[in-house]
Amino acid sequence: MLKLLNLLKDGRFHSGEELGAALGVSRSAVWKQLQNLQSECSLTIHKVRGRGYQLSTPLQLLDTQAIGEHGHTPQWPVLVYETIDSTNAEALRLIGQGRSTPFLVLAESQTAGRGRRGRQWISPFAENLYYSLVLRVEGGMRQLEGLSLVVGLAVMRVLQALGVKGVGLKWPNDVLVRDHKVAGILLELVGDPADICHVVIGIGINVNMQANAQVDQAWTSLRRETGKEVDRNHLVVALGRQLGHELERHRQHGFTVFRDEWEQAHAWQGREASLIAGNTRIDGVVRGIDAQGGLRLEIEGVEKSFSGGELSLRLRDDS
Ligand code: BTN
Repeated sequence: MLKLLNLLKDGRFHSGEELGAALGVSRSAVWKQLQNLQSECSLTIHKVRGRGYQLSTPLQLLDTQAIGEHGHTPQWPVLVYETIDSTNAEALRLIGQGRSTPFLVLAESQTAGRGRRGRQWISPFAENLYYSLVLRVEGGMRQLEGLSLVVGLAVMRVLQALGVKGVGLKWPNDVLVRDHKVAGILLELVGDPADICHVVIGIGINVNMQANAQVDQAWTSLRRETGKEVDRNHLVVALGRQLGHELERHRQHGFTVFRDEWEQAHAWQGREASLIAGNTRIDGVVRGIDAQGGLRLEIEGVEKSFSGGELSLRLRDDS
């Protein structure tokens, strides 16, 4: 179907005959593929007698060649899927099959995009970025300390370079614009974190999404913020460069060198917030992060550090 999409992506009319010839299939097979495209990718395709088929709006698809031409460095092999359950899940399956690392998994859409704390990550077709980078980690726990916060910083820097104003971070690793989520990060580990393991760095960025009733939190997208459509292939390259740079810094120096930078980017620094862990809620004032990337919360005048994947932070209504 990706081949058919590539023929239609220009938003112009293409006759059934032309599409069939390009794909090497009959016109009725083209018709079937068009039906599948509409249902599986939620795309609208117009059919006009005598002219053929046309996508309702032109599409810019992920393209390994374009990514290479934009100068993708470091040289991570890039795998692009049309639709997948989750790029993180696929990355984990590929690790299980022994694929050599590093590598990058991208998809045009996810049917079961994973968010933190078991939430779903809404992943419409060809609108956003669903990005999973797989790395082998050999340095034990130190190489993992604060890693997800470093990824958040890298994403933030890329968005700033694209001209997005007011980008900030929310502990542990949400990327926000004026308290609206624009990107989320989900790290998944396999192996022994104290010795050798693989980490899947899953990043979801709302890129060109303009409306979506399924997202159940305050959100925004790069397009909403800049008023311009963003080239996702270009974004993949920019993100790869920034991540490559920050991950190398983290590998060499650990999290300590990022701590001040991260606190300066923290949108909720000094604000009254509640830390939620399951049914438990702890109220306090956000003081920053510790040397390992844990949250420092002041509770009734006493500062305590918290860390763990199941924790989340909410602003207190009265703050
Ligand atoms: C969050 O809850 O904020 C984390 C969202 C992470 C979403 C990304 S999209 C690419 C990768 N694949 C997934 O299934 N999840 C992550």
